[in-house]
Parts: sequence; C-alpha cells; structure tokens
Amino acid sequence: MPMSRQSQNKATQSHPRSQRVAGWATLESQPSAQKLTEVDESMMRRALALAKKGAGRVEPNPMVGCVIVRDGRVIGEGYHRRFGGPHAEIEALHSCTRNPRDATVYVSLEPCCHHGKTPPCTAALIEAGFARVVTPFYDPNPAVNGKGLRRLRAAGIAVTTGVLVHEAAEVLAPFLTTVRLGRPYIIAKWAQSLDGQLITPPGESKWISCEMSRRTVHRLRARVDAILVGVRTVLADDPLLTARDVPLRRQALRVVLDGQLRIPVSAKLVASSKTTPTLVFTTPQALNTKKAQQLTRQGVELVASKTRNGRLLLGECLSHLANRRVTNLLVEGGPTVLHAMLKARLVDEAWAFVAPRLIGGDPQRCCLANVFANTDPRAATVERSGNDLLYRLRLTDLPRAAEARRWK
Ligand SMILES: NC(=O)c1ccc[n+]([C@@H]2O[C@H](COP(=O)([O-])OP(=O)(O)OC[C@H]3O[C@@H](n4cnc5c(N)ncnc54)[C@H](OP(=O)(O)O)[C@@H]3O)[C@@H](O)[C@H]2O)c1
Ligand SMILES: [Zn+2]
Repeated sequence: MPMSRQSQNKATQSHPRSQRVAGWATLESQPSAQKLTEVDESMMRRALALAKKGAGRVEPNPMVGCVIVRDGRVIGEGYHRRFGGPHAEIEALHSCTRNPRDATVYVSLEPCCHHGKTPPCTAALIEAGFARVVTPFYDPNPAVNGKGLRRLRAAGIAVTTGVLVHEAAEVLAPFLTTVRLGRPYIIAKWAQSLDGQLITPPGESKWISCEMSRRTVHRLRARVDAILVGVRTVLADDPLLTARDVPLRRQALRVVLDGQLRIPVSAKLVASSKTTPTLVFTTPQALNTKKAQQLTRQGVELVASKTRNGRLLLGECLSHLANRRVTNLLVEGGPTVLHAMLKARLVDEAWAFVAPRLIGGDPQRCCLANVFANTDPRAATVERSGNDLLYRLRLTDLPRAAEARRWK
C-alpha cells in the first residue's frame, strides 16, 4: 500500500476528524524466527519508508529501501528510484559517509544474485565487506528465491531474516501478488452516494464525488500500470482515463472489457491511443470484423479472450496483463465490472468515495449492495476527502512471502 499509507497519514494530520477504524497493522502476520533487536526493527522501518518513495516509478519492479549501519550509526541509505535504475543496496552503498566494512545492511527485500538490468547486489555487498545483512524474507522471483542469501552466507556474511515481515509484505503486496498469484494487484475505486448508487440520473453531471476526491484519483492513476473499465462506462462517459495535473512517470495502459467491440471509433480512448496505449479485450469472433480493423488502424490493441456465460473471462484477461508486467491495476468501473471483480474476490483494495447526497433509483442495477455479503474487510481506514468520505478496505489477505528460512 505504498502511496495510500502516506496519503492516509497526511490526511489524518490535516483532518482532525479523520478516524482510523481498523489499522492495516491488524492484518495477520507471520511469527518471526529470530530474536530481533529494537534497532533491527527501527532500521527496517526506515528502509521500508525509503522503499515507498519509489511508488509510481519503479513498477513493475518492487519498491525496495536500504539502510547501512556501522557502530550504531546510519552511514548510508538509499532506495530503488526508478525502473531500470540502480537497486536500493547500490544507492545506499554509494551514499556511505564512512567505509562500510563490517557494517550491517538493512534491506527490505532479499538482495538479488542475478544479472538483470543491473549487476547482482550480492556481489557488491560481498566486495564491500559487510558483516551482516538483515532482510524480511526471500525475493519470490524464482531467479533469486533464497539464492541471494545463500550466496551471502557462503561468503561469511551473517544473515538475519523475518524482520517486519508483515509491514514489508504490505509495501511489496503488488510485486508479491504478480509473482505469486500470476495476476496484477487490483485496486477497485468508485464514487457512490450515501444510498449506495454509483450512477447519476440521465441528464445530470456524471460526477458523484467532489473535486478533491477526483484529484486523489488522478494521483492514484499516476502510480498504477493499467486502468480498466467496462465498455458501458466508455459508452456513457467517454472517459480519457489519464492522470492529469499530477507528477507522472508515464500514463498507465488503458484497458476496456468489450465482448462485442461496441467501443465507438470516435471515443477519446480510441482517438488518443497512438499517444497513450489502449487495449481492448474482446472475443475471438469480434476480431474478424470491420470494426476491429478500424480500431486497429487507430492504434488500439485488440486481445482475444475466451468467454463464460457471454462475459469475457476475467482470469484470462488478468493473467494476460500480468504477463506483460502490469503489477498494479486500477479498476474504475462501472458497477457491472466492479460487481464481477468483487464477486470473484479479485479485488485486493477497494477505495470507495462516499458523497453526501442521495440519488435513489434501482438498487439492483446501480449499487454494489449484494457483493459484500461474507466479505469482511481485513482492514479498513476512513478519511475526509473534501465533502466526501474515502473508505479504503483491504479485501484480500496479504500475499504470503516465501517463508524465511531459519538461519542459525
Ligand atoms: N460511480 C462510479 O464510480 C462509476 C465509475 C464508472 C462508471 N460509472 C457509471 O457506470 C455506468 C456504466 O456501468 P455499467 O455497470 O452499466 O457497465 P460497465 O461495468 O462499465 O461495463 C459493463 C460491460 O463490460 C463488458 N464486460 C465484458 N466482460 C465482462 C465481465 N467479465 N464482467 C463484467 N463486464 C464485462 C460487458 O459488455 P459486453 O457484454 O458487451 O462485453 C458489460 O456489459 C455509467 O453510467 C457510468 O457513468 C460510475
Ligand atoms: Zn539487486
């Protein structure tokens, strides 16, 4: 929950009436194996805080932070700043104000031991002569998965695992979800009235939430890899689904579920697809149509997916997105798609903006009332967002990181 946690803290400070109804910290956590010192925990906390600074810039890589401590003093720290850039350990090493020989490294994920975009961090740590490496758990990436720690131990470096496992899993949840479950980490966001309606009456403005809430959504869009909607939202609202007026590394991939290729060629998503990519999941039959050719010519990418009961198979669409390294997916609706995602228990986090108004109308069609039966949030927060309340619910357990081996 990288950025959300920060924004929650900020919101809590600036809005005294904000209330934490149940902390993320109440989530189930793994027992730690070793006797850990308070220093270990506080340094790992610092490494995790640094890690979160990479939110929106490092994906699909994990956010990782690193602190180097010698003789009880922090002599270096760093974090993975951008995709393809140096890893946290290397950033921290380069920042050292003293010789790091015999120092302790606190790093929020197992150091890598393979040649990826950069050389392995284990080699750099061994060469620098560190005495000890402290980390929460294995990197679940099969290319690492314990091998990094084994290499460090073989070089005579003491290794401690199991430090702040739960907190680290929270920061690394999108990365862990993609690697371990083969689907992106999913945040579903919607705006609703007090009576639970997500759709405004015909002829009225489509906006339910206030301007401040919409700004929050733009910040959220700026840090995800893809944004998904159902075709009826495109037909009703003609959205652009870009992040606007916020600092940005790149626009997210825009994704539409559209079995019959009903998306208009004149839609903003289509017209802008040469500058900001748009992907439409559809049926194999729809691919062989004139409409498909028109859309492709405009720059829209079409991907065929199987169907069940006339609806595209969500699992297939999601694994396609994970395969192309979509780590964070924002689902923006409408109610039909949100309903399907929630019912299939695919939503990891829900962000519900609740506006102080009553809309009325058919509760079956426009609200999510039925899907929350037997869905107890694992954790929840609430904060003020202008005139609205923003409820954030965690709906899935944190993905379990690989069990840290009990190093003696
Ligand atoms: N309040 C909010 O936060 C919010 C957000 C977004 C939209 N909206 C409003 O919601 C309305 C549109 O919502 P909606 O519920 O009518 O439609 P929707 O969720 O936008 O789109 C639903 C369509 O997606 C397609 N689809 C393909 N595979 C699917 C699958 N596996 N599961 C579900 N849908 C699948 C289906 O069309 P095919 O059968 O043709 O494939 C389905 O009819 C608009 O009025 C919009 O303004 C509100
Ligand atoms: Zn590395």
